[in-house]
Amino acid sequence: MISRHDAQSWKCACVRFISFATFTFYAASACAQDADTIRQFQFERASNGYQLAMKEVPRPVAGDNEVLVRVRATSLNRRDLNMLRREHDGDFSYAGGIPLSDGAGEVIAVGKGVTRFKMGDRVAGIFFEKWIDGAPSEESMQSDRGVNAGGMLSEAIVTHEDGLVSIPEHLSYEEAATLPCAALTAWVGLFKRGRIEPGQYVLLEGTGGVSIFGLIFSNALGAKPIITSSRDHKLERAMEMGAIGTANYRSNSDWHLKVKEISGGHGVDQVLDVGGRDTLPKALEILAHGGHIALIGGLSGYGSDLPTNAIMWTNATASGVYVGSREDFDAMNAFISEHEIRPLIDRVFEFEEAPAAYEYMESGDFMGKIVIRL
Ligand SMILES: NC(=O)c1ccc[n+]([C@@H]2O[C@H](COP(=O)([O-])OP(=O)(O)OC[C@H]3O[C@@H](n4cnc5c(N)ncnc54)[C@H](OP(=O)(O)O)[C@@H]3O)[C@@H](O)[C@H]2O)c1
Repeated sequence: MISRHDAQSWKCACVRFISFATFTFYAASACAQDADTIRQFQFERASNGYQLAMKEVPRPVAGDNEVLVRVRATSLNRRDLNMLRREHDGDFSYAGGIPLSDGAGEVIAVGKGVTRFKMGDRVAGIFFEKWIDGAPSEESMQSDRGVNAGGMLSEAIVTHEDGLVSIPEHLSYEEAATLPCAALTAWVGLFKRGRIEPGQYVLLEGTGGVSIFGLIFSNALGAKPIITSSRDHKLERAMEMGAIGTANYRSNSDWHLKVKEISGGHGVDQVLDVGGRDTLPKALEILAHGGHIALIGGLSGYGSDLPTNAIMWTNATASGVYVGSREDFDAMNAFISEHEIRPLIDRVFEFEEAPAAYEYMESGDFMGKIVIRL
């Protein structure tokens, strides 16, 4: 564990520099470069799964074609909570690994041969460090950050220069840290696979990370998002954000019929199915002719008695979506920049409060994204 003295002196050095606002960039670089060690959270075995343990480790060094990134913000996804609560390891243990797939920060050192980035560039890690473009390979699927590749809950990380994208200029680090998993999944589901068009009806399930990005993206395009939630106050907020209609899936078990009614009987042209077992059959029941359903999540579990003939009768398509490539991330960022899109951040936690951020996600009280600032 890091000693209080070490943590304090590291922090003091940062504060001294940061007080010179004009030199913020240089301050950040100097902080991380001056220190021989950095702090990071690691998974540690606990009775009910894992816990997060703060560790002090040697500052990583960028090798050939690698980049050292001072991480400024990370964000949580449902997967991160599921990992923390995983009680049985099977043949794979997270112990000693660094959590969180998503993060953004600035380049503070580059190794020999690096051509894509320079000191001071603002970057985000891509979810699969080795999935650059086209279809994924078996190897690139094994490069997911926070599991097989190191996670972002660390003051600094070293990564291959290919595993990063530049972040949109109008976004803060906190905002950019929400993009790698939830935003990209929603974007690939709607734009790449679904080929969404303005005016189409879009079904979004619940008000978590993926669905709220689905709402924001649909809205920016001029499509018609309809969103569900278990809580009415979240539905009210979603209407303020541009939803054309809502349904409470907890108080109304026939929520899908209400969604169809909102679409004037047309049905929905696009679905981001994050619910899985309980939502998928209902979403398929109200899919419009020629519609598209992106199979994304299993919040209610996986597996269902699926009315697959409904897909045939409606000439619909269904695609499995597992985040996306760097090429997809760049395409999404172009859309985000063009429309000056800002993510919905529910709450920002400080680095030391990371365990509380996970608890907040578990409470279900949030909407959109939960961020940790470093
Ligand atoms: N395939 C991929 O690439 C990919 C990428 C990201 C996420 N996922 C998966 O997609 C799902 C959502 O992820 P996320 O990160 O967006 O989650 P999240 O931010 O934790 O959002 C969860 C929200 O979904 C709603 N919800 C919970 N149970 C539900 C149910 N049975 N039916 C409908 N809505 C429900 C709740 O919203 P209300 O409070 O409004 O009810 C809850 O707050 C997870 O299963 C995750 O593993 C997959």
